[in-house]
Amino acid sequence: MLKDLILKNRSYRGYDESYSFTREQMESLIDGARFCPSSKNAQPLKFYAAYEKKDVDAIQPLVRWAAQLPGITLPHPGHCPTGFIVICQDTDISTNLNMFQRDAGITAQTMLLLAAEENLGGCMIGNFIADELKKVLSLPENIRPLLVVALGRPDEKIVLTDVGEDGSTVYYRDENDIHYVPKRSLKDLMLN
Ligand SMILES: Cc1cc2nc3c(=O)[nH]c(=O)nc-3n(C[C@H](O)[C@H](O)[C@H](O)COP(=O)(O)O)c2cc1C
Repeated sequence: MLKDLILKNRSYRGYDESYSFTREQMESLIDGARFCPSSKNAQPLKFYAAYEKKDVDAIQPLVRWAAQLPGITLPHPGHCPTGFIVICQDTDISTNLNMFQRDAGITAQTMLLLAAEENLGGCMIGNFIADELKKVLSLPENIRPLLVVALGRPDEKIVLTDVGEDGSTVYYRDENDIHYVPKRSLKDLMLN
């Protein structure tokens, strides 16, 4: 069921590094995402699939994880993602970098749901060093990274909880490294 996949599709920050992706797997995620809605149907998004160790190792230092857990460096050593898809905008198609942020989000979630269906997982990463990323991947001038999607075989436990009385939505970890993600209740979201 789609609802089960949505629940399973968490933002993972710990992965089994023995897992490796093939180019076909990466292309299959991107092929699914190419049918996503696009503002004005302009489809300016282009994708860099990183699945070879050289590329993955070059991207990992340029992405920032879990800003809400300042005391913890994630992923833990030996638990990095083994793939990344960098969602970029081709400015030869559109130079409006705001308009297609939503396209990037829809596309990322679609790829992550497809990954969840294969018992894989990932994390959207908006906090990355775009200029450096462009350089290490030798992206041409017209290709601008919008969002990075980390991918791998998750090896950490994530628990969804309800937002408590204090109203905090800050995610947290316990002494066993279980990651808790507070979600607002349906009642709190409804305006009418
Ligand atoms: C657009 C977007 C950008 C994000 N950027 C980052 C990021 O840079 N680093 C990170 O660790 N998590 C990032 N996240 C993941 C969120 O922190 C995560 O969605 C949130 O904690 C809720 O957890 P959940 O996805 O498991 O529900 C991002 C999520 C979204 C939607």
